[in-house]
Amino acid sequence: MITEPSNVTHFLTNSYLSKKRNPDILIPPRSIPPLKSTGQTPVKSAGSARMSKPKLFIPGPVDVAPETYAAMAGPAIGHRGKDFEELYSSIQPGIRQVVGTTRPVFFSTSSAWGVMEGCIRNLVKKKVLNLCCGAFSDKWYGVAQSCGKEAEKIQVEWGKPIEPEAVRAKLAEGGFDTVTLVHNETSTGVLNPLKEIADVVKSFEGVLMVVDTVSSLSAMPINFDELGIDVLLAGVQKAIALPPGLAVLVTSDAALERAGSMEDRGYYFDFCEFASNDAKDNTPSTPSIPHLYALRERVGVMIAEGLENRYARHLATNAMVHQWGARHGFELLPPEGFRSHSLSCFVTPENLDQVGWIKSVISEHGFAINGGYGKIKGKTIRISNMGNETAETMQELLDALDQELPKFLS
Ligand SMILES: Cc1ncc(COP(=O)(O)O)c(C=O)c1O
Repeated sequence: MITEPSNVTHFLTNSYLSKKRNPDILIPPRSIPPLKSTGQTPVKSAGSARMSKPKLFIPGPVDVAPETYAAMAGPAIGHRGKDFEELYSSIQPGIRQVVGTTRPVFFSTSSAWGVMEGCIRNLVKKKVLNLCCGAFSDKWYGVAQSCGKEAEKIQVEWGKPIEPEAVRAKLAEGGFDTVTLVHNETSTGVLNPLKEIADVVKSFEGVLMVVDTVSSLSAMPINFDELGIDVLLAGVQKAIALPPGLAVLVTSDAALERAGSMEDRGYYFDFCEFASNDAKDNTPSTPSIPHLYALRERVGVMIAEGLENRYARHLATNAMVHQWGARHGFELLPPEGFRSHSLSCFVTPENLDQVGWIKSVISEHGFAINGGYGKIKGKTIRISNMGNETAETMQELLDALDQELPKFLS
């Protein structure tokens, strides 16, 4: 008798067993190879069950709770059946509270960019105005152009917010039917004045407003219905603290009406497909069901925590990071009044070996922060307080940063 190596797990299917009895048919057993080593040096004091990977305090993806991973391992179900409809509809009440709407929230198995490009394809008939103040908002302008749309932008210096009156002046020139805004520009830590800009856009008839809340949704109050905007979208790997791979979106009646009149809006991100499938508690195409299990779990946690408490927790942990930075004389990139609640972006002091410090915090403490994004990479650092972080876990990070910092200051 041949014995299997002990490190090989295999499933003996019925067909394999029956074929095994016939010595003429040689079919190897289906096996799952042992996990390969990541080759990464294990960190010295990582937190819970993270194996050799550092805990992420980068501004997304962020750390995922073990309960969320466990939820993802729910049973395989077909997405055109009752079990799926129940899963879909069970998430709706909670996620609608998070988004501040009575309208359906659609689930897109994609990262946020899928929906961001979808907004352009579904809505821009005449010309889009992209409000640009950092890497993600700037890129949206490029994406609009690559979709073959007419696009103009208001460009402000990275680190500065968009001014509502500049939006008014530009829209007054005429010709626009869509505006894109990144609420919380993750690359710079700027929180744009959403309500003020939404009020300006609303005063222009026929202009739809699309808002990326990728790194602000669930970290601070956002109310789709009160804002009167037309699309709100977010990825789930930021403050919602799921692994990446799912985006959520809400659309107004006006957005659905516009989408319905667009002949070249495509299929995968077609807003009308999302809406007609939502009416059956379903998605246009096969979704990532594990992500939906996880979303159901996290939304339950958010509602149990209380959204107001959740916002207050983010504000408090964000303030801890600001105070920590102030103690070291680190300057925040965005001006006061326009600072993100979910991440902090500091200008790197000249006398700091930023790369060495970040590496050392990873290797010695198992915590990862980010060394800047896009054209301010190396010149800024970004620290996230999104998701499940508490005063205690943020303090662990700040202590680790403190411990390593003197070694990298000249
Ligand atoms: C504000 C913002 N918008 C859009 C994106 C793009 O998200 P994704 O890469 O998940 O498509 C990001 C990613 O960090 C982001 O922070």
